Amino acid sequence: MKLAIIGGSLLKQLNRLQQPVEEEIRTPFGQASALFVTGTIDGLEVVYLNRHGVSHQIAPHQINYKANLFALKLLEVTHIIAVAAVGGITAKMSPMKCVVADQIIDYTHGRIQTYNDIKDNHVNHIDFSYPFDETLTKTLKLALKQEGIDFQPRATYGVTQGPRLETIAEIKRMKRDGCDIVGMTAMPEAALARELEMAYANLSLVVNWAAGAGKLKSGRRGQPAAVVSMDEIKQLIIEGNSIIEKPVYRVISALNR
Ligand code: HPA
Repeated sequence: MKLAIIGGSLLKQLNRLQQPVEEEIRTPFGQASALFVTGTIDGLEVVYLNRHGVSHQIAPHQINYKANLFALKLLEVTHIIAVAAVGGITAKMSPMKCVVADQIIDYTHGRIQTYNDIKDNHVNHIDFSYPFDETLTKTLKLALKQEGIDFQPRATYGVTQGPRLETIAEIKRMKRDGCDIVGMTAMPEAALARELEMAYANLSLVVNWAAGAGKLKSGRRGQPAAVVSMDEIKQLIIEGNSIIEKPVYRVISALNR
């Protein structure tokens, strides 16, 4: 077993990684987002990657997801915890809430979703009914519980193209569709992990109410909703790091047993 942690705006490094080594992994799909930091935590082999690059220079639509996931496979990673900062759409998904997504609706466009183009004469359909690995998700939820963290154990993650945030009308539509949270990176990451047969689970932290979703909290009834504040998002991301790393380390010790 080898675990990868994919960080983004949240979890920019794994402080407890022992004997960390930075490795460049070449792939047939071009450059990954960053060097891969490999090491051990409590004896378990762990790989860390930041999907946005070390200085957060790669926007969600520009991420080379195929290179990132293929490189993890080359590193013999078997399990992936993907950490994400998201917006909250439905009532329970309030800022600073940890959420473990169990479903996805993909609103992205123009992102390459598959490795199929390298397989000769064979279309590799994957079952994606449950886009996240059930066993790893269970381990993650147990870790959150053991840490005493108040979290949402189910959510549909709507993946938007970005980098702009959504309009109020788009969020209303996503809510009608059944989305609970909104982020920009779970696809095609989750689908590519499934094609490469790596167990993939999501750990999200809500860092803002999605556009218009915080209406009743931020404005009076009948008044326009507050706009999303980038400063508040930045602040919550800073505060969120110390929350999100605890269940990650707890998962690592659970997997090591
Ligand atoms: N929308 C999309 N992605 C996000 C948001 C949002 O409101 N907040 C954090 N990531």
